[in-house]
Amino acid sequence: MNPLTLSINIDHVATLRNARGGTHPDPLEAALAVLEAGADGITVHLREDRRHIRDADVTRIRAAIDKPLNFEMAATEEMVAFAEALRPADCCIVPEMRAELTTEGGLDVTRAGPFLAEAVRRLSAAGIRVSIFVEADLEQIVAAARLGAQAIELHTGAFADARPEERPGYLARLREGARLAAAEGLAVHAGHGLSYETIGDIARIPQITEVSIGHFLVSQAIFESLPGAVRRMKALIAAARGI
Ligand code: PXP
Repeated sequence: MNPLTLSINIDHVATLRNARGGTHPDPLEAALAVLEAGADGITVHLREDRRHIRDADVTRIRAAIDKPLNFEMAATEEMVAFAEALRPADCCIVPEMRAELTTEGGLDVTRAGPFLAEAVRRLSAAGIRVSIFVEADLEQIVAAARLGAQAIELHTGAFADARPEERPGYLARLREGARLAAAEGLAVHAGHGLSYETIGDIARIPQITEVSIGHFLVSQAIFESLPGAVRRMKALIAAARGI
């Protein structure tokens, strides 16, 4: 099967650092360590409230790594301007609400205001590949393609959080969403909540070419090591993909 790249979200290395207000653990050091362990790229989400990753982290990581940086962001003027200056390889546009614990669902592209279209246009004009984080829903996927996004990221959270016996229904929707998105000419990424237990089913969907995984791998650093967790996730992906 075609390759599936693994971008590691290191936001929660910053969560741990911020818990004590110091500089350790450094998200840049974590980024370099996971790349050394075989990760294909780094993802960061600069939230409006800067609860984990901060502006200076993003610019340091952008300057130091030689693999693609995927910059997750809300469609706001502040974030679009930041991304235009940063010029990461990818921007993934996500919905953002202040009170949420994490990104809680896909963006409602069909009801988004005119600024979303402007954001896609400006980021694309800056040479950035734009993806939109959506549910596996035909209307949302078609709307993302119409806006000119080059990719979508399918929200895997409900699938990953479901009890094992409930997962097949969610998985069928994700499979169908991936097929529809590819038929619309979009690159298909996936992420949220993925773990050793759930990666195989996602990696076997042939249209998905990138997964973004954060919280589980950073948490596994408690029990194994962060590079070790990345190596194990890469091996599970390779096994599921048959490569
Ligand atoms: N993809 C998107 C769009 C996200 O917002 C997040 C969480 O920041 C992830 C992937 C990674 O999710 P997790 O940390 O649960 O692996």
